[in-house]
Amino acid sequence: MLELIDVTKDYRGGKRAVDGLTLRLGPGLLGLLGPNGAGKSSLMRIAATITRPTSGRVLFEGADAVADPRALRRNLGYLPQDFGVYPNLTAREFLAYLAAAKGLSRRSARARIDELLETVGLTGAAKRALGGYSGGMLRRVGIAQALLADPKVIIVDEPTAGLDPQERARFRALLADLAADRVVMLSTHIVSDIESARPTSRSSRAGGCCAGARRANCSRRSAAASGTCSPHPPRPTPSAPGTRSPG
Ligand SMILES: Nc1ncnc2c1ncn2[C@@H]1O[C@H](COP(=O)(O)OP(=O)(O)OP(=O)(O)O)[C@@H](O)[C@H]1O
Ligand SMILES: [Mg+2]
Repeated sequence: MLELIDVTKDYRGGKRAVDGLTLRLGPGLLGLLGPNGAGKSSLMRIAATITRPTSGRVLFEGADAVADPRALRRNLGYLPQDFGVYPNLTAREFLAYLAAAKGLSRRSARARIDELLETVGLTGAAKRALGGYSGGMLRRVGIAQALLADPKVIIVDEPTAGLDPQERARFRALLADLAADRVVMLSTHIVSDIESARPTSRSSRAGGCCAGARRANCSRRSAAASGTCSPHPPRPTPSAPGTRSPG
């Protein structure tokens, strides 16, 4: 469904954040685990069409998402690492605003927002201004907005940052459920986020940013994400434990 092929990202000043990474993603959960500066957010911004790769290709359902990102964007839920909100709006108002921007009808938005507020445990706080929310509560609003349009591709950058252990467990379960029939990509610094979410991915060959398998598997040697990572390896490569068949 979503492919990144030999993707490299160089920033001005010569910093290479992503180095020749190939990912072929069908339904399932891909966890990116790596130290600060490993290139996780850079990779996710490329996959979310926020930034263009310096070289390489991004394909969504076989079509070039760099040349024309619209189809991927229509099917995308993205939570950036630096997610910001309007502090004077309530959670419900903020989600309604984003739902309108995503083109949801008012009626379906209302039902969806109720459902998502419940999912992220914010029903009771939905009428309070976001300026009074804790960091973890704001993260939950960010997660809710990523799921508004029932996206096929969910990219969440450090979604569990600031969540308490109970909320983290709840969110991991939610992502694992969503990954049954969607592409879910998350980054984290917390190994257990990847271990216990039972993701379907395999580990990358090398590099500071890597994909987690059932057992998180990460090399921290390199500052740049590199190598080939395929949660759905081409046949006849045998599947790693915990992988699903290509979707
Ligand atoms: N807009 C930018 N301009 C220049 N360099 C950048 C830019 N964005 C990221 N970098 C550099 O690219 C490298 C990868 O950064 P990135 O934010 O992708 O890493 P990360 O794995 O998400 O880190 P963290 O765990 O701290 O969120 C870092 O060295 C960073 O300084
Ligand atoms: Mg980051």
